[in-house]
This record gives sequence, C-alpha cells and structure tokens, in this order.
Amino acid sequence: MEQARDPRREGASWWKSGVIYQVYPRSFQDTDGDGVGDLKGVTRRLDYLQGLGVDAVWLSPFYPSPMADFGYDVADYVDVDPLFGTLADFDALVAAAHERDMRVIIDLVPNHTSDVHPWFAEARASRHNPKRDWYIWRDPGPDGGPPNNWLSEFGGSAWALDEATGQYYYHAFLDRQPDLNWRNPEVAAAIHDVMRFWLARGVDGFRVDVIWHLMKDPHFRDNPPNPDYRAGTNPYFRLLPLHTTDLDEVQDVVAGLRRVVDEFPDRLLIGEIYLPIERLVAYYGGALDGAHLPFNFALLETPWQARAIEHLITRYEAALPKGGWPNWVLGNHDRPRIHKRVGGDQARVAAMLLLTLRGTPTLYYGDEIGMAQVEIPPERVQDPYEKNVPGIGMGRDGVRTPMQWDGSRFAGFSDAEPWLPLAPDFTEVNVAAEMGDPDSMLTLHRRLISLRRHHPALSEGDYAPVAADGDLLMFRRDGAGERILVALNLGGDPLLAAMPGARGRVLLSTFCDREGETVTGDVGLRAHEGLVVRLD
Ligand code: NOJ
Repeated sequence: MEQARDPRREGASWWKSGVIYQVYPRSFQDTDGDGVGDLKGVTRRLDYLQGLGVDAVWLSPFYPSPMADFGYDVADYVDVDPLFGTLADFDALVAAAHERDMRVIIDLVPNHTSDVHPWFAEARASRHNPKRDWYIWRDPGPDGGPPNNWLSEFGGSAWALDEATGQYYYHAFLDRQPDLNWRNPEVAAAIHDVMRFWLARGVDGFRVDVIWHLMKDPHFRDNPPNPDYRAGTNPYFRLLPLHTTDLDEVQDVVAGLRRVVDEFPDRLLIGEIYLPIERLVAYYGGALDGAHLPFNFALLETPWQARAIEHLITRYEAALPKGGWPNWVLGNHDRPRIHKRVGGDQARVAAMLLLTLRGTPTLYYGDEIGMAQVEIPPERVQDPYEKNVPGIGMGRDGVRTPMQWDGSRFAGFSDAEPWLPLAPDFTEVNVAAEMGDPDSMLTLHRRLISLRRHHPALSEGDYAPVAADGDLLMFRRDGAGERILVALNLGGDPLLAAMPGARGRVLLSTFCDREGETVTGDVGLRAHEGLVVRLD
C-alpha cells in the first residue's frame, strides 16, 4: 500500500513548507451519478490538485454513517460508506496521491460516535453492559429533567434521555452523536487502534475533530452564564463552556494521540480548536508533544482591517511556543466562504495573505476559483445545525455546494442533480474557464503556491511587520538570503505604500499583471491589490 516517495520531499517538515487543501468529499466530484461526491471522484481530480501545487489533501469524513451530521456521525471508524466507495477505492486514492508526491490527511472524529455505532448500541442496551461506561451517562436531575445545564453546540440541552434505561447521555452536538467517555482507558485504546488501522494503510495524518471537547468536568458542574451573550446570536454561547471544553486534562488525551502518530514516521497531527490564541497554543503540548498544528481559525473571526490583522499576527507569533510551527486557515466546511466575508475583489488579497504568511496554509476547496457562498432555498436546507437553530445564519450548506469544474449542466460535478444547489454563477466561475485565463483567481492561486514553493523565504522564512496603516498591510518574509515584501491593499481605493530607501522587483500582483516591474521608494497599489516584491 505504501508507495515510494520522492526522497527530496521526505523529512519531518513536509507539512511545514506544504500547503494543505481541504476536500469535502460529498461535494468534490461524483463518479457514480447519485449527485453526491465520492472517493473515486477525488482520485480523478488529483491531477488538478497536483497542478494547483498543493502538498496534502485533507478529506472530511467518508466513513459509514447515517449522515445525520453528514459523516461527522461515524457508525464504523474502519470502513468507507458505500455512498463514497470502498476501502479499495480509498487505498487507490492514497496510492495515486503518493505517486504524485501528495499526502493524504483524514478526519478523525474521536469525541463522539453515531447513535447507531455498535459501541453505543451496546452501551444503551443496559446499565450493566460492559460498554455502558464508554459513553457519558447520568441520572435525571431532581426534577426529572437533564442532570445539569450543559448545552449542545447544535441547540438545546446537551443531554438526551434514553427512555429504556432511564438515564441521560451527553452529546456536545446532535442527540444522534453521543459523546465518548475519554476517561475510560478502553475508549482511548479503541480509538488508538483506529488510528493505527489508517496509519498502516498509508495515511499521512489526521485532522482531529473538536479536539478541545474531549474531556468534560468529572463533577458535572453547571456552566456559568456568559455575561457578554447577545440575544439573537448562537444560543450555545448563553453559557460559558467552562466545564465542557478545554479542560487541562485534554492535553493528556492529545499527547496520547500524538504518541500513536509518532509510531509511524513523518505523520501529521492537526487539531480542530476554536479558542482564543492564548489557549489555542496550549495544544502544541507542554513539550511540543501535542498537535503539530492546532488549527488557527483567528483569520475567520478577526475584522478585515489592516491593524486588526497585523495585531493578530503579532499576538499569534508571540504566543507560539518555542519550536511550535504556525498555521493559518481562511475557510472550511463550517464557516461562510471568504468570498462572502470580504467580497469577491478582496478575496484575491485574502488569498495572497493566506499564502504569504509564516505558517502552513489550509485552503478550502473552491476558494481557489473564487466560489461564492450559495443562498440555499428553505426547501433545500440539509444542515442539521440550520434545522435545529434556524434563522440566525448558522446554516453551513452554502459553503458546501458542489465544486464548479466547468460550465456544463451540473458543473462537471455530476451527471445527476447535486445534493446541494450549484452557485448561480458557475458557468463563469469554474475550473475550465479559469484554467487558461492568465489573471483568473485560479491562476493567482497557482502562482502564489508556486512562489511559496520556489522561495523558501515565503515558506519557511521569518515574519516581520512593516506597516498597518488605514487599508495598507505590509510585512516582510526573510530567509535563505532573500527579503520579500508583501504589500496588501485591504480597501477599495488606490493607495501609496511607502518603502523608504527600498528597491525591488514585483514577483506577483493579485491582478497577475505586474511581474518583473521594478519598484523604488513608494509603490502604488490599486484598489484591492496585493503585491509580492523581492527586495534587492
Ligand atoms: C466539527 C466539524 O467540523 C463539524 O462539521 C461537525 O458538525 C462538528 N465537529 C460535530 O462533529
């Protein structure tokens, strides 16, 4: 199963200099005409990804699942759902990726299973079942209701009553996603074996789902009210999740996951973590024995202003533990597309930022062609989050729509009506249309990734802030004998970026039209323009 690799790319740091690309398999490429993407579809598109220049593909879950949460409700950790294909298809995908010198990262969902997972079926069979303690059970509260005030991220109480046995089980997400009890060593051992199963099949790493949720308060204390909660926003944040997330003990669990990853050479552990930076960095582990990359989602939440972004970068850089490698994310399957957040013109600047910052970038499928957030008509809503907490913009379907490959009827995604609607602009915004266009969003991404690959200053060099003034954000990346200046105009008016005494040559503009231009002293930036300049 393991393929020979290019020895130049071997070594512990492939994920430091590399670019990660997230595929949401349901929406990438359908090959069997059911309107839902599959693993063979991912394999079919590997040449495209290789041409884009990415180093690793992260696949959201493809395991057998009733799809209550579209695969994040796993019914069998060591197989492939027939909707997505077979284990043989998975092996073929890994082999084909490795032949192209690309890595494969898979999603590990250890916090909860599906309610139809055999472990949960056993656990709920009786209070005395040996697997009862694999999940989190409590007697009803004094009034017969839930045992405490803990809330589900997906709305309502986090406790569901199992009528047959008269106890409540805890679910941080849907009631169809019961949480595993990580205080039980048998649970840890079982998940570690799941990891070994996939690592032995050749996967290059895991993105661990909601890793900061893995431990809950053993005393089941109520969560305190959140004094900053604003009505009309996500009701989960009515309480501060103090006793349900980010417990110190989670670090031991993460270290355990890391030990398993380290049993195999050159593998990567990524953690999904939504926490303020100062807490996020704890997930590198005290002795760098935690996640290699605790996902940094701060760009998704910071106001799109030069000063705010510079402040964020500085805070993050300062908070990193010695030897901890940074990373940046601009989009994923849970958050609105960057195109919606900053607008279509500014999305190019955002791409330049993501791909020139110090740290491993993760690119969400479709962002490289400028896919927009799609309005989903109420009758086509699929996301359980939107169904449970309607009307306040929690729905995630609009960021999960089919990849736009070409201008044909179903955008080259499928021969059948896709599971989610296509973006109305797919006849213009698609891979085929953008591939040969010298200044398309796709071309910009290909060139940014290529710059990163060919200039170690960009992939591994130091970061130095230069200016954050009005709409102008400038920073330098220095390394391997090169100094590279990145100048970004975050606004819709032209501006002049002062580079006193400096001289350089433009490597790339977000409009792909100034390569080779010599700049001296002040450099003019058009509205929504970013420049990468190699300083003399
Ligand atoms: C985080 C995943 O990214 C999200 O899609 C999912 O709904 C929750 N975890 C629950 O598994």
